[in-house]
Amino acid sequence: MSLLIAFEGGEACGKTTQSALLADRLRGVLTREPGGTAMGERVRGLLLDTASGAIDPRAEAMLLAAARAQHVAQVVAPALAAGRHVVTDRYSHSSLAYQGYGRGLALDEVRHLSDWATRGLWPDAVILLDLPPEVAEARRGHPDRFEAEGRAFHRRVEEGFRTLAADDPVHWRVVDGSGSVDEVAARVWASVAGLVAS
Ligand code: TYD
Repeated sequence: MSLLIAFEGGEACGKTTQSALLADRLRGVLTREPGGTAMGERVRGLLLDTASGAIDPRAEAMLLAAARAQHVAQVVAPALAAGRHVVTDRYSHSSLAYQGYGRGLALDEVRHLSDWATRGLWPDAVILLDLPPEVAEARRGHPDRFEAEGRAFHRRVEEGFRTLAADDPVHWRVVDGSGSVDEVAARVWASVAGLVAS
């Protein structure tokens, strides 16, 4: 059975590197959000550019959902239908953490929006890369529109991810993101190996 595995977490937690390594190991399709399609990458540019200024949280949520709908229709669903595993660097739970917990939109509404955008496609497993905020902060370069948000916002997002993981232990795997790339990759693999073998 083909699997959809999402990596989630705060900024600079190592998701991008670990997504690529897992996709490689599974010989699956590697993709990301916002983005993954030509249209989605343009929306990503709009969302991350500080020149976009303050975007209303509902507008932000809908832009992300629009990019996600395109991503599922054009990349994720066809790959799964073709029997490939898909590894995505962020997916619907980022909207719950950032737009829900971070921006303060109602969680059930954000969940519903993603559910509609994806035609109900939720990941088989979500890997939360857990890293102390100080370590992640030290890794950041030039801030984009989200990274430019204050500490309180990022703390709400991190807390949100932890709550989501705690509320759904069947789907979530919280993986310690500290240590070398190889060490983290080994933990990631251990967390999904059972699913892959089954
Ligand atoms: P990403 O490139 O993964 O950022 P980083 O590598 O810095 O962690 O994601 C871009 C930003 O988009 C990130 O700050 C989180 C934000 N985002 C949301 O707010 N909601 C969403 O649904 C998604 C997919 C991303």
